[in-house]
Amino acid sequence: MGSGLLVHRGCGSNGSNDSHGLTIVTTCRICGDAIAAFMSFGEMPIANGFLDPGSVGNEYFFELAPAFCAHCGMVQLVEQPAPERMFHDNYAFHSGTSQTMRRHFATFARSVIDGPLRGRTDPFVVELGSNDGIMLRHFKARGIRHLGVEPSDNVAALARGLGIDTIGAFFNRALADRIVAERGRADVVLAANVMCHIADLPEAAAGIARLLKSDGVLIVEDPYLGATIDKTSYDQIYDEHVFLFSVTSIAKAFAPHGLALADVQEQPTHGGSMRYVLVPAGSRPVAPSVESWRAREAVQGLGRPDTYERFRQNCERSRAALMQLLDDLHARGQRVVGYGATSKSTTVTNYCGITPKHIAFIADTTPIKQGKLSPGAHIPVRPAEEFSRPYPDCALLFAWNHETEIRAKERAFTAAGGRFITYVPEVRVAS
Ligand code: TMP
Ligand code: ZN
Repeated sequence: MGSGLLVHRGCGSNGSNDSHGLTIVTTCRICGDAIAAFMSFGEMPIANGFLDPGSVGNEYFFELAPAFCAHCGMVQLVEQPAPERMFHDNYAFHSGTSQTMRRHFATFARSVIDGPLRGRTDPFVVELGSNDGIMLRHFKARGIRHLGVEPSDNVAALARGLGIDTIGAFFNRALADRIVAERGRADVVLAANVMCHIADLPEAAAGIARLLKSDGVLIVEDPYLGATIDKTSYDQIYDEHVFLFSVTSIAKAFAPHGLALADVQEQPTHGGSMRYVLVPAGSRPVAPSVESWRAREAVQGLGRPDTYERFRQNCERSRAALMQLLDDLHARGQRVVGYGATSKSTTVTNYCGITPKHIAFIADTTPIKQGKLSPGAHIPVRPAEEFSRPYPDCALLFAWNHETEIRAKERAFTAAGGRFITYVPEVRVAS
C-alpha cells in the first residue's frame, strides 16, 4: 500500500465534521501547522465496537491514517470518529480485567500517596478517564478526597458501585470550573491512558491548568511513541488513540497552558508507556530524566519525517509476514485462535485482512465482549474457558502486552505442544 489516503473526503478546513460526527484535520491539533498522513491502515471500524451478530451491515468505518507534525513533533490521527461513538454506556474496555494492570495501578496510586500527596492537608485527587475505578479505589481506601471523571456510563457505574465518587462527563474547561467551585482545586490530577484519547487536547490542558493548585501535579501516562516506532507496534494506532506522545511533543503541547514537564518515567504497561509529570511552570525543579529522554528521542529520529516512512515500510513487512504465516497454517489444517480481543487487535485484523478462516474465534475474559463479533473482521469472541476446549494448535496473541501473565496462566497449553504467535516486535511462533 502506498502512503496516500485511501479515501479523499475533500475537506480543506481544520476540524471539519461530516454528518456522522467524524472530525478530519488538515492542520495539527496542537500547533496549527499543516499536516498530512504518512500512511493509511485503511478503512477501520470503532476499535471497541464489538457487535451483535445481528447488527452486521450497520457498522461504522473511518480511515485510520496517522500524521506527523514536523513543527511540534506530535503524531496524530487525521480522522477521528466523534467521541460519543467510542465512549458510551456500552464501552467494552474495562481496565480491571488484567491482574498486571490492577497491580500497576495499585503501585501507581501508592507512588502518588507517598510522593506528591505526602504532607498535604486534606488533599484532593481528580482522575480523568477513571474507568471502573482501578486506580481511585486505592485513594478511597485511604480516605483521600477524590473524584473520577468518566464519560462511559457503564464503567463509571462499576466505580460508583465501589463507593468511588465519579462524574459522568467529558472533561473540559467548564467542568474544571464546576469542580473548583464545588470542591476546590486539585493537589493532583491523574490521566492514565486517557490524555491521548482527547482530540481537543488544548481544551483539556487549559481545564487542567485551572483545576490544579499552584503547587499541584499533573501525572499523564500513555503508550509511548518511541516504543511504538522501535517495536513496530502499529496496533497502538486506533480510533481512541488520537495522539501518540513523545517526551518532546507532550512538553510542547502543555507549555502554552503554563504546565511544564518536571519528570518522565518509562513504564512497561501497554507494551511500552511513558509517565509524564507536569507542574505549573517554575514550581518545581526539572529532573535530569527530561533532558536525557529528549536526547534519546533525537537519536531515535522521532522528530524526522523519514522515521515515519521507515515505520510505514516496517508495518507493511509485518503485515505480509503475519498473513503468510496464517495462510500457511490454514493450508496445513492447523487450528488457530486469537487470544485477547484487545482494542489493538482491531487494527491488526482489519489492516492485515485476518478473517474467521484464519482464526476460528478470539478467547477473551471480558463478559461484555463474549458472544459478539470483533469489529470489522467479524471474528467471534468467546469466553476464555473455551480456549482449552480443546486447545488449538496455535494462539495468536493479540494481548501481547500481557504475555507474561498469559503464559503463566496457560502453561498447560504450551506443555501440550501449543504455540503462541506474536507479531511485536516481529512475527514469530514460539512454544
Ligand atoms: P488491553 O491490552 O487493552 O489491556 O486488553 C486486554 C484484553 O485481553 C481484554 O479484553 C481482556 C483480555 N485478556 C484475556 O482475555 N485474558 C487475559 O489473561 C488477559 C491478561 C487479558
Ligand atoms: Zn504541530
